[in-house]
Amino acid sequence: MSTRRSAAEAFEKVPTLIFPNSAAAAAELAKEVKQIIETKNRAGKPAVLGMATGSTPVPFYRELIRLHKQEGLSFKNVITFNLDEYYGLKGDHPESYGCFMADQLFNHIDIPKENIHIPNGTIASDQVFAHCREYEEAIDAVGGIDLQILGIGRTGHIGFNEPGSSRESLTRRITLDRITRQDAASDFRGEENVPSFAITMGVGTILRAKKLVLMAWGENKAGIVAKAVEGPVTEVISASFLQDHPDARFLIDSGASRELTRFKLPWLVGPVSWTPRETQRAVVWQSVKAKRPVLKLVDEDYNENGLSDLLSEQGPAYQLNIRIFNRLQNTITGWPGGKPNADDTYRPERARPYPKRCLIFSPEPQDAIVAIGATIDRLREQGHEVRVVSLTSGSLRVADSEADKFASTLLELGATAADSAQWQAQTEYARELVKLIEDKGEFGEDPPALRSLKALILRGELRDAAHAVGVPQEKVVFLDLPFYEKGRYRRFFSSPEDVAAVAAHVRDFKPHQIYLTGDAADPSSVPAIAFKVTESALKECEQDDWFGTCTFWLYRGKEKAFEPHEIDMAVPLSPVQMERKERALLRYQSLSSLEHQSPQGNRDAAKQYDGLGLAEYEAMECFQRWKRS
Ligand code: GLP
Repeated sequence: MSTRRSAAEAFEKVPTLIFPNSAAAAAELAKEVKQIIETKNRAGKPAVLGMATGSTPVPFYRELIRLHKQEGLSFKNVITFNLDEYYGLKGDHPESYGCFMADQLFNHIDIPKENIHIPNGTIASDQVFAHCREYEEAIDAVGGIDLQILGIGRTGHIGFNEPGSSRESLTRRITLDRITRQDAASDFRGEENVPSFAITMGVGTILRAKKLVLMAWGENKAGIVAKAVEGPVTEVISASFLQDHPDARFLIDSGASRELTRFKLPWLVGPVSWTPRETQRAVVWQSVKAKRPVLKLVDEDYNENGLSDLLSEQGPAYQLNIRIFNRLQNTITGWPGGKPNADDTYRPERARPYPKRCLIFSPEPQDAIVAIGATIDRLREQGHEVRVVSLTSGSLRVADSEADKFASTLLELGATAADSAQWQAQTEYARELVKLIEDKGEFGEDPPALRSLKALILRGELRDAAHAVGVPQEKVVFLDLPFYEKGRYRRFFSSPEDVAAVAAHVRDFKPHQIYLTGDAADPSSVPAIAFKVTESALKECEQDDWFGTCTFWLYRGKEKAFEPHEIDMAVPLSPVQMERKERALLRYQSLSSLEHQSPQGNRDAAKQYDGLGLAEYEAMECFQRWKRS
């Protein structure tokens, strides 16, 4: 753990502790909570804890459960208040925060039911106001909250205090922001199913707690964490109000810390060891800041922006610029599998062996084609053997309406076929599916038959999309990893079974190149879990003959895109290739438009390179060499 350094304090307005991973942070916090419980109980008082939902607190809850089961920590004298609850969901809906808390914590510890408080999301509209007031009174009646746990939403909200929530706001019903609903879309299989309202403690309620601890994991949170920690206190980002609390802290992992000044612009905070990556970061930053290409930067640019130290070590500007320009230039290649018969001294990938066996891991069926479809296209076109492996079925993403469409088509086919008698079994199956969809209602769990139909729909779409970038059906493999089949979004657990399935597959293919994503994602997300599973599987293969000659390339899917200084290979796309990729993405009809966003990211990457003074391409797919630990 690295604690806040004094030089960073100029930027960070609330104590921010950075841990190597979420488990380490969760363990530390759980230890503190144990002490609070024991101290209060010794004084004959209950400990009052404020609880949060979402994927963020899950590792913390797991640790509390461990402390209960293995170290005898009792929750008999603990009272809890949850931050919020969706409004309008049935109490037994699996996505209700009541169910979430029962699953993730309360069912596994000895807390008395009457000590648990969660806003009631099923209360009649005309009673909401009174209910909220009673919630506030209940908190005060037990002497206030000793420690309030918080996560942070992409809008910067705590609880569900969306932008505009005032510092004084109390428990109330609010309308969810569009971004918040989009973020919850995969939990509810489509944005249209996400409730529009919630009941949440107010900012004022939260600030009354004696201690506040906000946790955040993964690069997707990095931007909003930096704004909340370093930016002004504002109603636009309710987490920024923590700056004004006398005992508030942020506990974050290294991914979520990336946008803090001490990491993003370390030269503004203290001495820097100028590794090639840091040097490249500084030059790129300077170019973006000055809005001038790298080769046009002059000594004054560096000197006036805190980079005189770099200049004295590696200057003058002219030489530094050329070196970095060449390094950036060398990342660009139209030959992601290496260029046969060419000098590859400065190429990102080696020429030999040729052709290569290239293994592309896609956490969910859409991820790889969305992120690196054009590279896949090129690899195959350049004679390499490409295999696309979808690690999970992705079935949880498919909306009921899609399944209904397929089942209804099958029904109609049975009814209109000339030999309809022969369609009896299929018709029965389709009828059963339509009924399953009707019976489970808007928010029900998918029974296994429905889940497998949804998986098949996505399988078809991936095959179709892969075909559109030239990969034949038989080169698309579906591992349907068990962690996904057994879980729900934000609550997945992997097991050795998952690792074994991936290891067996890699061993069978003996790749020369592996493309994968998820290293920087929120640790509870599908890409991050798939990444961890793959990482463990690769560890098992380390002694295999093929392993030593395999190269590993990271790409970015839904995670934050690489910045230019992080890129080791940039594959440019012509307008025609981009169109081809976009056409391939249209094959994913069952997914919401959000899943198709990457082409814009590819265009932005090309613009960035252009701005630095490199060639102007239509778009780029970018990769980082994975240095395995
Ligand atoms: C919801 C909850 C918040 C939570 C946020 C982030 O909006 N109301 O309390 O912090 O989601 O969720 P996650 O932790 O899954 O990123």
